[in-house]
Amino acid sequence: MMISPPLSRRSIVLIGLMGCGKSTVGRELSRATGAPFLDTDLLIEEQVGMDIPRIFAELGEPHFRALETALLNYLRDHPSSCSSGIISTGGGIVLRPENRAILRSLGFVVWLDVDLPNLLSRTERAQNRPLLQDQDREARLRQLLDARSPLYAQTAHFRINSSEIKPPQVADIILRQAHSFFA
Ligand code: S3P
Repeated sequence: MMISPPLSRRSIVLIGLMGCGKSTVGRELSRATGAPFLDTDLLIEEQVGMDIPRIFAELGEPHFRALETALLNYLRDHPSSCSSGIISTGGGIVLRPENRAILRSLGFVVWLDVDLPNLLSRTERAQNRPLLQDQDREARLRQLLDARSPLYAQTAHFRINSSEIKPPQVADIILRQAHSFFA
């Protein structure tokens, strides 16, 4: 299904916790629609010339959060850079209130809500996630899920429980919803 031609602010924005499948589903959506795929983590890595673990280690998390906000401001102020794109975001992008407002202004915001057992298995081999390097990954993920679920809920236009659904089906459901949202 194709999304109708862009006017403005017609991106699909994916939010949710680490391991919820934002990149996989985002690429699936991009393949299905032909819309460009943007990943905020990758854009920040490119801009800084460091990967996320190094950014956290050398510049610190507050600096990374400032980079996320700067990137969102850029996307908002340059609609042609993402006016009908698929935007996958870092799991903590909803922490700042101004980010939540910008995300909603970019288009249709979708929360990929995945339960703890699935998040745990999907992040098993994640070396590239500084916030999951604790000994007790389960406790860490539970804490993040509790703290952030209300923020995802208030940012998203649509929530999908994608714990047990494969990425192509998730993408299909999102496209149907996006079609009504943008109609
Ligand atoms: C983070 C999630 C990561 C990345 C960074 C911080 C978070 O993105 O932005 O490690 O705070 O949840 P993914 O959700 O794509 O793993």
